[in-house]
Amino acid sequence: PSTAENIKRLQSFGNTMIPVGTGELASGLIGEGRMAEPEEILALLNHSFFPRRSLQGKKVLVTAGPTYEAIDPVRFIGNYSSGKMGIAVAEELLNQGAEVFLVLGPVRQEISSKAIKLTHVTSAEEMYQVCTTIFDNVDMAIMAAAVADYTPITKSTEKIKKGDEGLRLELVKTKDILKSLGGRKRKDQVLVGFALETQNEKEHALEKLQKKNADMIVMNTLKDEGAGFGYDTNKVTIFLKSGQELSFGVKSKAEVAKDIVATIITNYYA
Ligand code: CTP
Repeated sequence: PSTAENIKRLQSFGNTMIPVGTGELASGLIGEGRMAEPEEILALLNHSFFPRRSLQGKKVLVTAGPTYEAIDPVRFIGNYSSGKMGIAVAEELLNQGAEVFLVLGPVRQEISSKAIKLTHVTSAEEMYQVCTTIFDNVDMAIMAAAVADYTPITKSTEKIKKGDEGLRLELVKTKDILKSLGGRKRKDQVLVGFALETQNEKEHALEKLQKKNADMIVMNTLKDEGAGFGYDTNKVTIFLKSGQELSFGVKSKAEVAKDIVATIITNYYA
């Protein structure tokens, strides 16, 4: 009991324990207590102090956040995206050694890492322009932004005054960034999209995978408790072009980002 207590105490100080081996012990008893094999010790030291940065040398484009579509100088059409999921993905890619280009819509969230190459944009058209310029120079693109699908056909240069009647806005479709990048994707590039669904989730996610020529779709549904806009947690299912489907539980967005990036590494860069 004292050994067990002492181990717990050491761990509580933040020490990492190298697990002991199980087998025949010097005392003649059989159980836990053998010194770990030197190879295991070396592997653990390597892993702790020199973590493998699987995406070293890779360039990745990430989009995150909402877009705002101006109606006039004081009003816009937007959505509730906080940008948290895309930012967490950008940070995890950086942890894995990638050079990250983040194209970020208007969000409150601060970007703590100075190493992320950040471009702020406001509208879907601006996001499209920036992404198109960057895409040919990257190995991978992850489109986590909640891009507006429609934008006002005309943007009034003056504030629209309130009249006696209602106001009718005419909207046109924005360019689909993911689809357009999918159309020009090279064989060596990996393209990942997101899908936010509220019904027939799987069917719609698979349709997006195919229509937008993506390699992978990360789907989340607003139906799941703790998933979606504004939350610090998320629950995703990943669909791969190969037909594979991976479901994850409710986790922090940082953990979800780790799962997404690990899935990409395993399937395309291992
Ligand atoms: N997307 C994009 N450009 C757009 C709209 C969406 O790049 N103009 C990307 C998103 O970043 C996401 C994926 O497409 O990676 C799917 O977005 P989603 O809003 O779920 O789907 P839509 O294609 O907009 O279809 P719908 O809204 O009808 O579900």
